[in-house]
Formats: sequence, C-alpha cells, structure tokens
Amino acid sequence: MTQQSIKRGGFSSSFGVLAATLGSAVGLGNIWKFPYLTGANGGAGFLLVYLLATLVIGLPVMIAEITMGRAAKANPITALQKLAVSKMPWWLIGVAGMAAAFLILSFYSEVVAWVFAYVFKAIGGSILSSDRQVTQAAFTSLIGDPLQSLLWQWSVLVFIGGILLMGVTKGIEGIAKKLMPILFLLLLMLCAVSLSLDKAADGLAFLFRPDFSKITAGVILTAMGLAFFKLSLGMGTMMTYGSYFRDDQNIPQTTLRVMAADLCVSMLAGIAIFPAVFTFGFAPAAGPALVFITIPAVFSQIPGGHLLMVAFFVLAAVAATGAMLSLMEVPVVILHERLGMSRAKATLLTIAGLMLLGSTCALTNNVLADFKLFGMNMFDLFDFVSSNVLLPLGGISLALFVGWTWGADKFTQALSNHGALGNQTTARVVFFLLRYVSPLLILLVMLKGLNLL
Ligand code: PFF
Repeated sequence: MTQQSIKRGGFSSSFGVLAATLGSAVGLGNIWKFPYLTGANGGAGFLLVYLLATLVIGLPVMIAEITMGRAAKANPITALQKLAVSKMPWWLIGVAGMAAAFLILSFYSEVVAWVFAYVFKAIGGSILSSDRQVTQAAFTSLIGDPLQSLLWQWSVLVFIGGILLMGVTKGIEGIAKKLMPILFLLLLMLCAVSLSLDKAADGLAFLFRPDFSKITAGVILTAMGLAFFKLSLGMGTMMTYGSYFRDDQNIPQTTLRVMAADLCVSMLAGIAIFPAVFTFGFAPAAGPALVFITIPAVFSQIPGGHLLMVAFFVLAAVAATGAMLSLMEVPVVILHERLGMSRAKATLLTIAGLMLLGSTCALTNNVLADFKLFGMNMFDLFDFVSSNVLLPLGGISLALFVGWTWGADKFTQALSNHGALGNQTTARVVFFLLRYVSPLLILLVMLKGLNLL
C-alpha cells in the first residue's frame, strides 16, 4: 500500500505549529476581504455578526478539523476513511474540500497576483498619486490586461509551488516562522501612522460603532462565510495541518491563539485602512478594489508615504503566501498520498491544473468580462460558491461527522492528548456544540441567506 509506506512530514516545534497554522488563517482574508466586506456591509454591525460566527461556529469546527487530522495523520480523504466507523462515504467531504481548494485558489491566486504586481509598482512609484482617477486607472489597466494578469498569476503559482517543494518542515513551517513576525511588525507600524491622521476617529467609529439596520440574512451568510474562509475551515485545510501537529500539542489552546491572533490582524488591518479612507474622502464601500485604489491615493498624501505603501503591499504579499501554501497543500498531499505521486509531481500537477482553472479568473476582467453564470462573473462565482456554499456545507458535514459518528469518547481522547491535558470539560462543551449547535446554525444561516427558507 503506497498510502502507508509514505513517510509524512510534520511541524517540528510548538512555535512552528502556531506560525504555520496562523500563516494559513491570516491572508488576504484579513487585508483585502475583511476590510471591503466590512466597508460594504455597514461596518461594526457586520463585525459583530462575524465575531459571533467565529466564536460559535468557527472555533468548534476548527478544533474538530485539527483534532481529526492529528488523530488520523493523513490527508483529508484518507483521514475520514480511517476515522469513520460506518460504511457511509464520509470521505467525500475530503473530495469536496479538494474541489473547494481549486475554486478558492483560482480567484485567490489572482488577487495575490495583483498584490505581487503592486509590490513592484509601489517600489517604482508609478501608482503613488493623490488623484483617485490615476490610482483607479492604474488598477484597471492591470486587471484589464489579460497577459499581465495571467503572467502574474502563473508566477505566483510557481513561487508558492517552489516553497511547497521544500516540504512541510523546511518549506511551510520554515517560511511561516520567518513571515509571521514580519507581518505583525509591518501592521503595527501602519496602524500607528493611520491613527495619527485627522479623521482617525471617524474611521474607528465606522469600524466599532454598530449599525444594525444593514444586517440582512444575506449579510449574516456573508459574515459566516467570511468566518469559514478566514480560519481556512470546511475544506480539509486545517485537517491537513492538524495531521502535521505534534502529539503533545494542546489543540484547544493553539486554536484559540490562532483565532485571537487572526482577529487581531483583521482589526489592525481595519484600523490601518479605515481612518485613512475617511481622512482622504474615499467611500468605505468601494468593494474588492478598496485596498488597491485607496491605499496608493491615501499614502501619496502622507509624509514617507512611498515607503509605507511598499510596506503595505509587502505585508499583503507576506500574508497571502502563508494562506496560499496551505490552500495548495490540500491537493498536493491528496495527490501525493492517494495516488502515490512524488510531492514534486503532485505539486507540478496542482500548479498546472490551477493555471488552467485559475485563468478563468485572471481573464474575468478582460477577455471574459461579459461571460456570466448565474448572473456572476467567474471570479465572483468561484468566491460565492466556495465561501457561502462549499465551506459551510463542509463545516456542517465535519461537525456531524464528529458529533454523530466519531463520537464523544474518541473525540475527547484525541483532544485531551489521551487524558494528559485534563481538559475533558472543554472537550465536552466543544462536542456538544459540534453535535447540535454548529450544524443547525450553519444550516439555518445558509438556507436563509440563499433565500431557500
Ligand atoms: N484564511 C485565508 C485568508 O483569510 O486569507 C484564506 C484561506 C486559506 C481559505 C486556506 C481557505 C483555506 F483553506
């Protein structure tokens, strides 16, 4: 059996586990999605729903995924086969996870492509202008050019693939340990500048003063989708990383730390962006283009802005790298362990597949601009289907799997490191949430948000 004979990599230190897991959670979700969704959905009210979804749904599902991964020490498909006691095809959750990984990677890699392109544009200074039309035109010309879009996307895929080829310990863990501290440093520096601006208070009020009038069922679904997307849940990513966890790692504690640090990064990103947006008269609801159009214009009006703008896009690139690594690791490890391919072959095949599927997103704003399915272009469709449908469905299935099939005893054993941690009460509470609360809540929000209820 190839599956058993393959020697698995793993994270070597406790800090490495934390850095890699946080590296997966922190990404463009914090620096691009969170600010623009908060901006478009009314600010603090949205933030509150997102917080609730993270705590009540995100946290238990994340603990479940990591615990399952560590117990099975295998890719998501094999893990579900190993842990399942019945003949039910639970392993299909792993297959759906791989599909979700491809969909997310297709549009995500395109946004990462813009970020990488912007690092170079920022260094060159060409996008630094206080004129909104100029920054808008720079962005439109980048995404409107099929060749540039494709080349940047493909370069990103090759770059991330290159790190994956270095393996789990040297590649994923090694890079995350270096990048995470840099990320926090850059973010704190940007926040300090933003808070010193004239209208900092307006930006903060927007971020922290709730307005519940904007909260609809659709907005709640979006907030829940963001909670899944943010913590890389519902598609086997955390299960895969869990399979690299050390046996003595305290899972609930690590998970809580990752969640808190991830929230911190989102809040800091909001604090870095919104005061600046308000001070210079931009609309907080500018949508996906928010950071690409406002940030250069904003920084052009601040002393030392050129350097700060470079710092901002380097920060985004750093964050995106850890998340991309974890997204691509899912198909790579599945192909490697299930089909017995070498890691190198599995990585190359994944990159090739993504070049094909991802190109539909790279071409969304140019060649395929008029191509729509269900009223959405490919980029928006992939984002919507993955975040608002596949990830929540994956979350429900995983919660049901733990709650009703794997069972309280095995879950508690695995979560408490076979009793060594003495955290049985935590295990019981999480189990209760997984068995009853999370699946019902997710289902309700999904049905209502998709207008099916
Ligand atoms: N959590 C990442 C972010 O917020 O940018 C995105 C992500 C990574 C989603 C890995 C899903 C995933 F499996």
